[in-house]
Amino acid sequence: MTCPLSTITWNDFQELGLSEKAKLLQESGREFHVMFAQQFTRKRLDELGALATVIRRMAKSRDGRRFLGQCLAHQRAMLYFTQPSSRTFLSFCAACQILGMQIGEVRDPAVSSEFKGETREDSVRTFSSYFDLIIMRTELSGLVERMSWVLSQSERPVPIVNAGSGKDQHPTQALLDIYTLQRSFEDRGGIDGKTIMFVGDLARGRTVRSLSILLTTYKNVRQIFVAPESLQVGDDILVQLSAAGTDYEISSDFRKSIPEADAIYMTRVQHEWDVKGETSEDSIADYSFTTEHLKLLSPDSVLMHPFPRKGEISPDVDHDPRAVYWRQMRNGMWIRAALIASMFRCDDGITAESQSIGK
Ligand code: NCD
Repeated sequence: MTCPLSTITWNDFQELGLSEKAKLLQESGREFHVMFAQQFTRKRLDELGALATVIRRMAKSRDGRRFLGQCLAHQRAMLYFTQPSSRTFLSFCAACQILGMQIGEVRDPAVSSEFKGETREDSVRTFSSYFDLIIMRTELSGLVERMSWVLSQSERPVPIVNAGSGKDQHPTQALLDIYTLQRSFEDRGGIDGKTIMFVGDLARGRTVRSLSILLTTYKNVRQIFVAPESLQVGDDILVQLSAAGTDYEISSDFRKSIPEADAIYMTRVQHEWDVKGETSEDSIADYSFTTEHLKLLSPDSVLMHPFPRKGEISPDVDHDPRAVYWRQMRNGMWIRAALIASMFRCDDGITAESQSIGK
């Protein structure tokens, strides 16, 4: 595999629009690096969802697990997570383990050479000396882009997967959200034509930003953004929705929109981005989902949350079959395994094996 980014200077790359950048991140129809949601086409989302389902079913049997476990046993992945994480970190670990990959990790720069003053560029180049894939979560929005380019100029241009970058993007969370929606609407004509409602801190929630963009690849999906004014979704996202011809609505009325939604995507307040504690819990108190709201929710809609939750969904709601957030979390493991398998080109082998087991 050659890294398509190696042909361009950093300054020229930065000047490009997102769709042009996306072309330089793909290699023979697959992702070389995973940086942002705009890289994924509808076709690609269908392929990855189908592969995730094959892997999920295969993993139910001992033979299937054994087959999956040798697919990437010759590859190693590095998890470089300098921002707090439980689910994303563990689901990437589990996804790599399903495929037999060995894993290494740095989670705290205080115990790496960054503490001695090493640059992030040198740290990432160091990881690429020992590993074949770098999965990276960072508080800095543009860092994944920069590191992907830096590696592309090196002797070992290994792929980088963005596991959350600043307030900006969380493309693999959006993939698992899409996979959850695909599964939830499997018997209802898929995601096309559905109304998806986002609630909470839409200004700083990167999962909302990435999912909102992926939803533009579906036909006639309506998006409703429900938040207090200070936490409403950014214009940069709305501009992209308009350009894609997506129908959207901005609202602060949580109760009113609930019956209209096929899926409700709740989010927490992202206090870590407050400069001086300016976002109080009160500002979001009216945007919490309780058992009382279940009555307003239509019988076949679903309630989602990227987690962690901080009171936006009462635990009393968990028992309702429309609350799919625990399944959503587990879907992260399957879709991340599918993504990595596909990036490393063992997807055809997995699909062929599943068909032969099925015979
Ligand atoms: C999200 C994140 O890190 O952006 N968490 C996750 O990866 N599931 C959402 C959040 O932290 O609120």
